[in-house]
Amino acid sequence: MLVPRRGLLASTPLLATERLEAEAARVLPRGVADWIAGGAGGEAALARNRAALEAATLTPRVLTGAGPADLRRRIGGIDLPHPIGIAPFGLHGLMHPDAEAATARGAGSALFIVPMVATLPLEAVAAAAPGAPRWMQIYLQADRGATRDLAARAKAAGHGALVVTLSAPVAAWRERDIANRFAPDPARGNGNDRPAYARPLQGGTDPAPTWRDIEALQREGMPIMLKGILHPDDAARAAGMGCGVIVSNHGGRQMESNPASFAALPRVAAAVRGRVPLLMDGGIRRGEDVVKALAAGADAVLVGRPAAWALASGGAEGVRDLLARLAAELSTAMRLLGVERLSAIDRRLLD
Ligand SMILES: Cc1cc2nc3c(=O)[nH]c(=O)nc-3n(C[C@H](O)[C@H](O)[C@H](O)COP(=O)(O)O)c2cc1C
Repeated sequence: MLVPRRGLLASTPLLATERLEAEAARVLPRGVADWIAGGAGGEAALARNRAALEAATLTPRVLTGAGPADLRRRIGGIDLPHPIGIAPFGLHGLMHPDAEAATARGAGSALFIVPMVATLPLEAVAAAAPGAPRWMQIYLQADRGATRDLAARAKAAGHGALVVTLSAPVAAWRERDIANRFAPDPARGNGNDRPAYARPLQGGTDPAPTWRDIEALQREGMPIMLKGILHPDDAARAAGMGCGVIVSNHGGRQMESNPASFAALPRVAAAVRGRVPLLMDGGIRRGEDVVKALAAGADAVLVGRPAAWALASGGAEGVRDLLARLAAELSTAMRLLGVERLSAIDRRLLD
């Protein structure tokens, strides 16, 4: 499926993710491009995310009578056109002048998880695509009042859930950023700061949160997804509290010794037992990767870097095209596998 497009990449068809990365590297300063692409330490976890997905194979069934794929998915009470969302990544203003508003417009009716460390305030991101499915990502703040205020603001702006990221209580060792002396302009990441907060949100993260902090946050009355879970016992505890689970090693950006998200997924899915929404991110680059994650137990997947590259190279249109391409690839893969509905994607395809 080719979608006509305007702008920077005029006359190019929907770009494969590697091409998007190359386009982004062409338009971005080196430090920003490396910040997006890089991972922690020697980047083994970054590579592992891809290697695990690439090692998995999908075995088709024939003569199933499967017709055109139905990609619709209901998750956490919202109806989505397909199970592919945009992961929260910070500082969209480093990638495009319209920042998170461009991403929101490009995401349209797909799930977009709005980052806390953002160029634009969460209210402006909500206003850029009114009524679209949005969840708000936060880091628990050492200033509990700031955390509660962020939750209240997200609720008032219509964001449907809070995504609490647990994989980054401290800054990681990212060797590319250290070599580049990369320090993002704080003005690109203070869109959600308020004078009432004790500390700026960047740097104000609680370095030692506990499950009790999650219980306290539940009292704010919003659905909560816990992002950055890799261990099945943590997943079981989250599900037992009614919190959704996002299996994620933060795109290999925190510890190079983390397992691949895809490798951690089956045990987490077994612990969650369908009680709460289960998402996965890390290394999703093509529609067939989406099938693999769903077959291993995820209800939906998120893309991080591909969306950042699409935003940098093509703005809102770039993001829209990325999601359209991934959805079209997913649809093709389902036809070729002999499945019509997402609910028919299960572990047997991975055998
Ligand atoms: C440039 C960049 C910034 C990120 N910032 C955040 C963030 O602020 N909060 C968060 O929860 N995750 C953040 N992440 C992690 C993503 O949400 C996601 O887990 C990861 O990118 C998924 O892997 P992928 O890039 O291979 O798709 C960031 C990722 C990137 C690439």
